[in-house]
Amino acid sequence: MTAENRVQWVYSSTTNEELAQRYDQWAGEYDADLEQEFGWIAPQKAAEIVKKYVPTEARVLDAGVGTGLVGQCLWGMGYRNMVAIDLSQGMLEEARKKGLYQELHQMVLGEELDFPTGSMGAVVSSGVMTVGHAPASSLDELVRITEPGGYVVFTLRPDVYEESGFREKQDSLEEAGKWSLVEATEPYQTLPKGEPDVYHQVWVYQVR
Ligand SMILES: C[S@@+](CC[C@H](N)C(=O)[O-])C[C@H]1O[C@@H](n2cnc3c(N)ncnc32)[C@H](O)[C@@H]1O
Repeated sequence: MTAENRVQWVYSSTTNEELAQRYDQWAGEYDADLEQEFGWIAPQKAAEIVKKYVPTEARVLDAGVGTGLVGQCLWGMGYRNMVAIDLSQGMLEEARKKGLYQELHQMVLGEELDFPTGSMGAVVSSGVMTVGHAPASSLDELVRITEPGGYVVFTLRPDVYEESGFREKQDSLEEAGKWSLVEATEPYQTLPKGEPDVYHQVWVYQVR
């Protein structure tokens, strides 16, 4: 299967079980497909935004860690206190091999997360809240586990923001006084070599 077909194949998953199985199968070739073939820059963009707001000693959750590409960027910027979760055991194993994370756990965004309230200094999530992946409701738990004053940083396609309930969820969390918008970047091409029509924005909220 080509890299492009693999991307469409994971997007078309209809259940979390199917999605996890597909990522399990893709895990060994994910870095080569996305980074080298497609020029995947979402992890670097997300990490740069984390660096702008979050002190390097903060405990940072990489939500939907995949193979650990965000952690790799953050490590280079001096972050050492990193925790990872993902739906796919295969992806978690690839991330574990990089030796960047203090803890790695299989957990599902959109369900209750097994972390205490306010236990993270920041959450970062790159390429996870997208078609057929983590739903807008994931944000409730990410806000709960982030300490007051901490940050939630995530990438989102503009069409997913408009059409998959993110606009409503993000606004309702703000109206409820749970978080405040800090920054939304301009849309940028996230897979410049593979899917030049796909754009992402990085959203940054500060938890109250
Ligand atoms: C496109 S990859 C992004 C991985 C990494 N963050 C990056 O930027 O390269 C999406 C990842 O999200 C995970 N994922 C998708 N839906 C999820 C969910 N509901 N809960 C947890 N992880 C999920 C997948 O298993 C996969 O590892």
